[in-house]
Amino acid sequence: MHLTRWEERAYEGEHGETMESAYRVLVATGKLLGADRLIPIVSAHISGVNYANIGDAGVEFLERFSKDAKVKVKTTLNPCGIDSGKLQLFNPPREFVDKQGRIVDSYVRMGVSKSLSCIPYEIDNRPRRGSHVAWAESSACVFGNSVLGIRTNRESAVSALASAITGKTPNAGLHLTAGRRAKFVVDVRARPSSNLDFGILGIFAGKLTAETIGFTGLKGDATQLKALAAGVGTSGASAMFVLLDRAPKGLERVSFTDEEISKVREQLSSDLDPEVVLLGCPFYTLREVSDLAKGLKGRRLKKPMFVHLSRSVYSEADRKGLVKTIEESGGEVMKDMCPSLSPTPKWKGFTKVATDSAKGSYYMKSSLKLGVNLLSAEDIVRNYT
Ligand code: F3S
Repeated sequence: MHLTRWEERAYEGEHGETMESAYRVLVATGKLLGADRLIPIVSAHISGVNYANIGDAGVEFLERFSKDAKVKVKTTLNPCGIDSGKLQLFNPPREFVDKQGRIVDSYVRMGVSKSLSCIPYEIDNRPRRGSHVAWAESSACVFGNSVLGIRTNRESAVSALASAITGKTPNAGLHLTAGRRAKFVVDVRARPSSNLDFGILGIFAGKLTAETIGFTGLKGDATQLKALAAGVGTSGASAMFVLLDRAPKGLERVSFTDEEISKVREQLSSDLDPEVVLLGCPFYTLREVSDLAKGLKGRRLKKPMFVHLSRSVYSEADRKGLVKTIEESGGEVMKDMCPSLSPTPKWKGFTKVATDSAKGSYYMKSSLKLGVNLLSAEDIVRNYT
């Protein structure tokens, strides 16, 4: 892998310890991916924010690293484990609140935007089509490549941070046009209609290959494709899909029928009576909040419902009166925190939840050990108001 003279010096530690570690991460990743060189990026998006995931080792690393690290490009941040404005709703342990705060402060010290969102493309960070970026957060990465036409590999928390600090990423994988062509085809013979169906299709397809997936027979709007991207990013290592009119010859193909929708749904869902409804994995877009508010208007929820948004979408939703509508029906609108990997349901004693997200169900079951009833948002409103 070719490095410029400056990059070589940075790699050898001549530009300080921070740069040295960042370049060592990028060179190691680049070699693994077969990159010929490093290329400039216009933005980074960082995961590794939730204290429930990164623990004490993460807090210590970030506090040390942020003493002299500064990001070189626009850099946004994934959700964390709490909504610090609504702590009274869950009463999280003091230690959790303190350490979560130290993590976010460390990123802010490095110049990272306190966006705390897994849909950075909605408002906070929407690069132009064709831009090279380094995004962690699998759902955002798959959506970015597949729908926005930006170019990113599926970065880890560490490699995205190294890219943010250097403003560079290895030139390989999905940064190259060849890497973006479909190598595996899913013929969609079912008619996925709800966002949930698209999420289920994503979970199904993501398991089949780590390469770019081509879907034939599929059309979807941005919200449906967001659910599809989240599913693809959850069950496997693929970082991109393309919608095809016709499958290129010679590629392996698999069909997705109504039977597969039922099978995947059965794996992710139990027919249980939930104690609480968790929505917003990935975080709801303005359009999704608006649809939900429309469905809830004039109705009263029979179950506690938490709807998860980024702070930027929350502000817009609040301005449009959508937060008020949801709250009037008995729902709570949360900012900054991930509903699927934060231990909040446990703190509250909830063990059975309903959600409209295939990705959410996957993590709530596997990481939080919750029982999950997976329903479309429309069915949730119908059943629980
Ligand atoms: Fe976002 Fe958490 Fe789901 S980060 S995509 S809400 S698992």
